Amino acid sequence: MTRPLALVTGASAGIGHAFAHGLAQRGYDLVVVARDTARLDALAKELQATHATNVEVITADLLQIVQVETVEARLADGDRPIELLVNNAGFGTIGKFKDLPLDREVQEIELNVIALTRLMHAALPNLLERRAGGVINVSSMASFQPTPGNATYGATKAFVTSLSQGVHEELRGTGVTVMALCPGFTRTEFQQRAGVDSTDIPDFLWQEATTVVDYAMKAFSKGKALCVPGPLNQATAGFSSVMPSTVTRRVAGLIVGRGDK
Ligand SMILES: NC(=O)c1ccc[n+]([C@@H]2O[C@H](COP(=O)([O-])OP(=O)(O)OC[C@H]3O[C@@H](n4cnc5c(N)ncnc54)[C@H](OP(=O)(O)O)[C@@H]3O)[C@@H](O)[C@H]2O)c1
Repeated sequence: MTRPLALVTGASAGIGHAFAHGLAQRGYDLVVVARDTARLDALAKELQATHATNVEVITADLLQIVQVETVEARLADGDRPIELLVNNAGFGTIGKFKDLPLDREVQEIELNVIALTRLMHAALPNLLERRAGGVINVSSMASFQPTPGNATYGATKAFVTSLSQGVHEELRGTGVTVMALCPGFTRTEFQQRAGVDSTDIPDFLWQEATTVVDYAMKAFSKGKALCVPGPLNQATAGFSSVMPSTVTRRVAGLIVGRGDK
């Protein structure tokens, strides 16, 4: 029997890397996408050795439209269709919007919003034809309130959470699930790439990427529209949903801008 096939963007590190491992363990074959070919090749070799997973490597910079189109074409290919798209590649920028270089803010929107939207759109026809599988869009706890100190990042993730839930509802009854995954602080390369010193964030706020993936896969298998991993994140998301944004945006600003006196 052929194994189900998942495509994971941003599989070379962090949450995407953990998704690749978690999906291989669950019997998926994989298409892994990121810019760093050496890391993707090493991942493919490891998964082939540990789980006999067939892994296809696509090196793509999802900030380059031509390379996004290559991944779109793979998703639209009906010969060996993708059953699960994990739209995970993303990055954040930290600082006051007025001080941040505009080009990088625009790239953040291009990767976190535009590429993600294009890839989900490309994946849906095959999924709908087979009436199975779906898309996990990796959003963030930052999506639940404005996030002064990383305002663009929070706005991109608010888009992802909203789009995912809207499309989830549109697809009700089709057999296809779209889910937003909203992790909180997760131990990956994310903070380092954003140039943030996260040493003062208390240990209890952090999750491992594998924990996030376990929550995600459980929620996805139940057909959920939204996955907020863990009780602490769920309580925080609940707080944001009942409090006015005059309060939540100040709290978020205090957390993000903690070194910014
Ligand atoms: N870590 C957290 O605390 C946290 C919390 C909430 C949400 N998230 C979200 O989780 C997702 C994954 O982040 P992470 O924490 O795992 O970060 P990470 O460890 O920095 O991994 C980011 C991944 O995205 C890939 N990527 C970055 N730019 C890319 C580009 N232009 N084209 C293709 N791939 C690109 C990177 O691969 P290459 O460098 O090889 O291209 C890498 O595999 C992101 O959407 C992030 O917003 C993270």
